Amino acid sequence: MSGDAATEAHTGSIAFTVNGRPVAVAAAPITRLADVLRDELGLTGTKIGCNAGDCGACTVLLDGRQVCACMVAVGQAEGRAVTTVEGLTEGLAEGTELNALQAAFRRHGAAQCGICTPGMLMAATDLLARHPTPDRAQVMDALGGVLCRCTGYIKIVEAVLDAAGADNTVEPAAGAAVGASISRIDALAKLTGTDPFAADAIPADALWLRVVRSPHARARFAVGDLEPFLAAHPGLVRVMTAEDIPFNGHGINPAIKDQPVLADGVVRYRGEAVVALVGERTAIAAIRDEELPIHYEPDEAVTDVAAAMKEDATLVQEDKSGNLLIEGYVTRGDTEGALGQCAAVAEGDFETAYVEHAYIEIEAGWARRIGERLELHVTTQAPYMNLEEVANILRISEDRVRIVPTACGGGFGGKLDIHLHGVLAVAAMAAERPVAAVYDRPESMASSTKRHPSTIHARLGCDRFGILQAMEMEADFNTGAYASFGPTVASRVPVHASGPYKIPNQRARGQAILTNGPPAGAFRGFGVPQAAIAHETLIDDLAEKLGIDRLELRLRNALRHGDTIGTGQVLEASVGMAPCLEALEPGWEAALQEAAAFNSKSSGAVRLGVGVGTMWYGIGQTGLPNPSAMHVVLNNDGTITLFNGAVDLGQGSTTVIVQICADAIGVPVESIGLVIGDTDCTRDAGKSSASRQTFISGKAAQIAGDDLRRKILARVNAGADSRIKIDGAVVKVDDGGATHEIDLSSLPATGDDDGEVLRGEGFFDPPTTALDDNGQGIPYATYGFAAQMAVVEADTALGTVKVLKIIAAHDVGRSINPQQVVGQIHGGTAQGLGLALLEEYIPGRTENLHDYLIPTFGDMPEMEVILVEDPEPLGPYGAKGVGEPGLIATAPAILGAIRHATGARLTRVPVLPHRLRAAILERA
Ligand code: FES
Ligand code: FES
Repeated sequence: MSGDAATEAHTGSIAFTVNGRPVAVAAAPITRLADVLRDELGLTGTKIGCNAGDCGACTVLLDGRQVCACMVAVGQAEGRAVTTVEGLTEGLAEGTELNALQAAFRRHGAAQCGICTPGMLMAATDLLARHPTPDRAQVMDALGGVLCRCTGYIKIVEAVLDAAGADNTVEPAAGAAVGASISRIDALAKLTGTDPFAADAIPADALWLRVVRSPHARARFAVGDLEPFLAAHPGLVRVMTAEDIPFNGHGINPAIKDQPVLADGVVRYRGEAVVALVGERTAIAAIRDEELPIHYEPDEAVTDVAAAMKEDATLVQEDKSGNLLIEGYVTRGDTEGALGQCAAVAEGDFETAYVEHAYIEIEAGWARRIGERLELHVTTQAPYMNLEEVANILRISEDRVRIVPTACGGGFGGKLDIHLHGVLAVAAMAAERPVAAVYDRPESMASSTKRHPSTIHARLGCDRFGILQAMEMEADFNTGAYASFGPTVASRVPVHASGPYKIPNQRARGQAILTNGPPAGAFRGFGVPQAAIAHETLIDDLAEKLGIDRLELRLRNALRHGDTIGTGQVLEASVGMAPCLEALEPGWEAALQEAAAFNSKSSGAVRLGVGVGTMWYGIGQTGLPNPSAMHVVLNNDGTITLFNGAVDLGQGSTTVIVQICADAIGVPVESIGLVIGDTDCTRDAGKSSASRQTFISGKAAQIAGDDLRRKILARVNAGADSRIKIDGAVVKVDDGGATHEIDLSSLPATGDDDGEVLRGEGFFDPPTTALDDNGQGIPYATYGFAAQMAVVEADTALGTVKVLKIIAAHDVGRSINPQQVVGQIHGGTAQGLGLALLEEYIPGRTENLHDYLIPTFGDMPEMEVILVEDPEPLGPYGAKGVGEPGLIATAPAILGAIRHATGARLTRVPVLPHRLRAAILERA
């Protein structure tokens, strides 16, 4: 009996209620409840992040108790009551959009990307039904099965604890949006489960595509005769191979298209795409990979950087001698000579692992051909780069491609490279129906880019007063089988190798080395978090050698206004490093005293430790043009529309860019409507990466808003300080008492958009220069700065570490939306904690969310965030960026705290218990 026939034989009508309404579905009883809810009943508010009971995104209520809908067979629901996120608003009074719990989530900024939010809400609903006033531990326990990769959980806990609180949100008045903690503009959709992620709105008539991937890290392969295979599989329409791809190469770097869309006779990492099956959904899902006529000849893989750099190493890519992809330098002064003169020199070797992005939204998308054009709806961080890449793969002009970014359920750099774009585009161009694909979690983890593993050697020297004199760093990054962001990491790290310290003599080299590992790409920090572990450990070494307090030593050396960095750039403005360190001082002193008191009394294995880490981060791309363009239109009905090409993957750019634009025009935030991301409608705002959207696209939005305001005022010859009020189709301009009116309905329509009567244009490309051969130049127009301190409890007998508290002080220039800035720092800190203590991706072994561990509610410490505002004159209202800075200082602070608690100097992350235990034993 075929699989389909077996399913049919066991398919009956299963009756239950969903959100109070009776339903009956004709499905096999074994079918996952999550699939029935989404596919049969259209309730896509229930999300799927793993289908394995690990992530909790699919959490619903079954007879009032939370369950993972992916782990419940629909047969188990027979006769019972299912409640989904869509049911939370059932029965609310007219005009009320959210229930009390959802409103609390909105009030506290507890949803960022929103992919985990329905699951969180359902788990919390279960809890609150049983314990209407829970305590923190009960909240953390009840929601502990739901993973969030964005928020660091803190605001979620706050929201649940305050679910009964007053909904006192006040929208700021015109001109007062910047600096106000307004709720996310897209909060309603995220809290009701109606924000359409890529997997939520796939056309019903779509064909489906599934990629078959290499089980080997390195092999030659041949695809046999596909005709009989096709004939034997009804419903399978096509098997795509490398021969079907018009241009079979892609890569985020415009000059390096080294990754095939489908491998062509050679696979270079486990999980590489080999062929793509296109057909009916159930037909392609039923095909086992082993059935395909693909014949592999496995070869010995180049597993790591050390193996790749051996003289006789096999070349991962035949034209890359020594497996060297690229290198970057910064050289200034006489480093060797200065190190020879130093009163103290610290030296060390450091190692970090592959880290998985683990965004809860798995890669998904669908494409269709419309006439001669290709339209791709996809989860992405970079629609315009996607457009160029897809056009190049199809070998068609860019005006024949439209990218429509869907809601993005987290990215953190991992959705900058294309994922299923190429195969979907090629398949859809040849099909009469749309073509869709959704990865599963193991496929996502095996195929997607990772944080670069690193091996770093560094030296740092100072005089007898602790003033840094020289730094040297050699950083080798495992960039995997293909380039991805290897060039970016190799060029960014040497600039940041010094840490945020004034050091007159510097020599740093970054290398990206090819191996047969998964391609390493962009991940929140682009190599800077790895380098920070090195420079922060060395500065702790110097503090120990000289007997100087660790915070004080950092303060003595912190970059300040007017200082010159290793690239020769003079930092003229916005250098809040010292204020960040100063902001930590009270907490630092108190924590040191507390730890000393505890440790002096404790005779057991548990010790407290306190550590501090710093970071700086260049906002935007390194020494490259980095432009963003926005436009905002005033329509003849009085509405304003901002056309914003910047994708919001949870970080909140959509909201802060509107805040900036609203204040520039001088109208309330709620006056502004949005068109987001669609490449047919918006201008190129560049990719959402490198913490650039607030600084660069925010500035473009400010300029566009200023431009529109100028044009409005010019119509009535009003002064620059005039107040603008829009009343229906009439603009009222109050110019110091005299009121002018502009009847918009009487103005001639202009521009491309229906009803447009006035348009403001904004363009910003921050002033940078390319780096020369010695790494000299102006790589970034501005930098973010931060200092974080950690308090940990380490069990010296077990090797376990619990982070108790983090205080994070961040110079963000100007906080456009403090609540969202704090949320970014919480989320970044959680990922930094994962980097320090938990996360290590091993191909073939940790390709799921139960073997690969990310921080959960229980891992998060108490957090205090201190915002330092040293305004950046170039930025919108003084703002810089905070996306990446949130993460970078965390791991160094935790490592310093572990060392303080145990005496063990850890140089390899993650600090798993066996590693800490070994380091402690080594000291004994
Ligand atoms: S999708 Fe059900 S637990 Fe992850
Ligand atoms: S908001 Fe929780 S995963 Fe994004």
